[in-house]
This record gives sequence, structure tokens and C-alpha cells, in this order.
Amino acid sequence: MAIRWRLGLAAMFMLAVAGAQAQERHITVAADPELIGSGLLKHMLPRFSLKTGIRTTPAPLEPGAGADVLIGPAVDGGRPVFRGGDIVYLARAAEGPRTALAERFLDWLASDIGQRTVASFAPDGKPLYEPAAGARVEVKAPTVTGDAMAGERLSLVHCGRCHVVGPKNRMAGIGSTPSFAVLRTLGDWERRFRAFFTLNPHPAFTQVPGVTPPFDEARPPPIAPLEITQGDLDAILAYVASVAPADLAEPLKYE
Ligand code: HEC
Repeated sequence: MAIRWRLGLAAMFMLAVAGAQAQERHITVAADPELIGSGLLKHMLPRFSLKTGIRTTPAPLEPGAGADVLIGPAVDGGRPVFRGGDIVYLARAAEGPRTALAERFLDWLASDIGQRTVASFAPDGKPLYEPAAGARVEVKAPTVTGDAMAGERLSLVHCGRCHVVGPKNRMAGIGSTPSFAVLRTLGDWERRFRAFFTLNPHPAFTQVPGVTPPFDEARPPPIAPLEITQGDLDAILAYVASVAPADLAEPLKYE
């Protein structure tokens, strides 16, 4: 009896240790939604896990996703890993406790086996992605999808009460709020616009359904709330891409 009890404990202890180890050897791979939608991630990740024993969870690439590996066409500082049509996908490891495991994933992806795994992904008998590890990437203007015309209209509706978004509301806007043309001069304007709902003052009054948490009932928005979908924001980005950067006589100091 006593022996069986002790064996049981030992087994439980070993399970707990195995569980903790499994948890440590685990990374989240955030990728452009296109790669998740196509099924490439589902095809790649189990093969990597099988080889290395490192478990993986796919996640959409978005600000604050807390991922260990980032894969997408516009990943800052990423190295080219594969290509889909004209789009070169870049990948890099995020800084953090699991950077070493993330680097292992990137090494695997760039290796012959990883590159062959990408090339062998052919859902309808036709390969969708080509290996591109070691390829040179030209730094192109950021890729913006969406409809710029719709984006102008949406900018006027949603942003135009504070920002001068373009000639159509040139005389409106709030003086202390930077115009879109001024924001457009910033090297990282695209990142800022994509994440505007996380940047002050917007979180207090902005909702992106399915992305932002609902407002705290105890602290309702101080002004008329702004509700915008991710698709509307894509269109706004397409519009902002078309806005000529303000011609600033002095180097811009706006932070
Ligand atoms: C109620 C007023 C208001 C509305 C509505 C508003 N903004 Fe802003 N926005 C501001 C102010 C004020 C700033 C400057 C904040 C600062 O200087 O810290 C700003 C700054 C920004 C910035 C730069 C943020 C940064 O920290 O780099 C971006 C990008 C931006 N707004 C995008 C938008 C977009 C896109 C919309 C519409 C979908 C929008 N804003 C709607 C008031 C507003």
C-alpha cells in the first residue's frame, strides 16, 4: 500500500516535471494572416516540432501579440525566408525569454529541410510558396492594401474631427493635433497608423471590434466614441499612403 502510494507520487512528480519542461520548450509563431489562412503554418509547425521537440502555437501577427517568432512581409529587421508571388516574407525572433528557441525555429526554416518543407506545401497540387532564405530583399515602400478613396472618406468621418486629414478638411481639425500630412513625414508612419488605437489619446475613445477590449463601464469615453473596423483601417492606411508628406522647412520634432 505504502509503496504503491509512493510510486503514485513519483509518477505524479515526473509528470509535473515533464509538463514544466514541455511548457518551457514552447514558442508562439505569429504570422501574417495570409500565411495562417493558406495553411502554410499548419503544414510547417508540426514538422519543426517533430524534429526538435519544441512545441509551437500559431498566432496572427499583430501589435502586442507577445509572439516569439514574427513572420510577415513587413517585419522590421527580419531575414527573408520564403516568397509567395511577389511578396517576400521576412522572419525574426522577438526579444524575450524564448529568443534561443525562436532562433532555432529560424535556423530550421532557413535550413534545407525547412526550405523544402515550404516548397512541398501544395494544397491543390500547386506549390504556393518558394524558398527564399538568403535572398536579397529590396526595401520597398510599405505594402498597403485597401481602397484609398474609401479611406479618405473614412478618415474624414472618423479622424477629421481632430486631425486635418487632407485638403477636404483643411480648415477643420484641432490645432494641437498633428495633420495626416505631418504624420506622413515620420519614417514609421505606417506602424503608428496601424496601431493608432493603442496610442494616446485614442484608447480612451476608440473601439476596434474583436481587437480592443470593451470600454471600462466605470470610465466611459469622455467624448463621442470612435468605432472602426480593421478593414476600415486598411482603407485609411491606403489613403494615408497617398497623402504627400508635409513639406517641413525644419526637421520634424513631433514625437
Ligand atoms: C478626439 C480627437 C482625435 C480623433 C477622433 C483621432 N485622433 Fe489621432 N491623435 C489625436 C491627438 C490629440 C494626437 C496627438 C497625440 C500626441 O501628440 O501625443 C493624435 C495622434 C495620432 C497619431 C500619432 C500617434 C503617435 O503617438 O505616434 C496617429 C497615427 C493618429 N492620431 C491616427 C488617427 C486616426 C487614423 C484616426 C481616425 C481613425 C484618429 N487618429 C482619430 C486626436 C485624435
